[in-house]
Amino acid sequence: MLTRKKLLKLLEQPRCGEIICLEETSSTNLVADRMIRDNRLPDGTVVVADTQKNGSGRLGRSFYSPGRVGLYFSYIKVLPKNAENTGLLTSFAALAVCSAVNSVCGIQPKIKWPNDILIDGKKVCGILTKLVSDTKSNTLTHAVIGIGVNVNQTAGEFPEDLAQKAGSLRIALDREVDRAVLCAQIITQLDTLLLEKKALCGDASAYVIQLRSLSCTIGKTITIAAPDGEETATALDIAPDGGLVVKTASCTKVIRSGEIDDSYR
Ligand code: BTN
Repeated sequence: MLTRKKLLKLLEQPRCGEIICLEETSSTNLVADRMIRDNRLPDGTVVVADTQKNGSGRLGRSFYSPGRVGLYFSYIKVLPKNAENTGLLTSFAALAVCSAVNSVCGIQPKIKWPNDILIDGKKVCGILTKLVSDTKSNTLTHAVIGIGVNVNQTAGEFPEDLAQKAGSLRIALDREVDRAVLCAQIITQLDTLLLEKKALCGDASAYVIQLRSLSCTIGKTITIAAPDGEETATALDIAPDGGLVVKTASCTKVIRSGEIDDSYR
């Protein structure tokens, strides 16, 4: 099991966030959300679970979270009052995951806009960010960044509906990966990135340059879900706010959310 003791030993730098490890929970994002409402939590508090019974993904989907082979955790960021770049939080987390996977596994993953991390065209990680606001003052107070990584699953282990799309670090590397080492490395990368002033509050263009270079969406023909059906477009660029610049038959526009189909790898 992933334990606080193990993770603290592996973390490279002193940090103020708490580490809370659970054997099983419904969803670490839900636990984090509840904790924010109940307590005053230090910035960077992390809730980790060995398995989730009701892991949630984007667009109301579930996130497959089998015991002891994956990494499921939520990182709580206390938002500064002047945070301008909250729309980039999922992208920041994607950069942190890519960098951690690169340093622990020696392979460079790609980012499928907006929140999937792919290796060899297969999804090895999904990110789900939720913003929490104070109802009285109507201001954003926290972000819960939920990260799920397929670490040690074998090819035959995924349910039928995921088998074509999902991969794991173990499949890519042909060896097991230490989940605690990877978890500690992602936390370290997130701590470093999110404490940099320009990330949340300033000129984030340096991060957008990194996002462009790791994007596997730019240059692809994609299908976007639109209110009145589907639209075909070419992905051109990552916008300064983390949106996707696309060219459709009629115009060039930025989409800030949306479902991009899996017809490319
Ligand atoms: C997606 O692929 O659509 C996003 C998946 C996010 C999964 C993580 S696992 C930890 C955290 N808790 C959840 O219930 N979801 C996120």
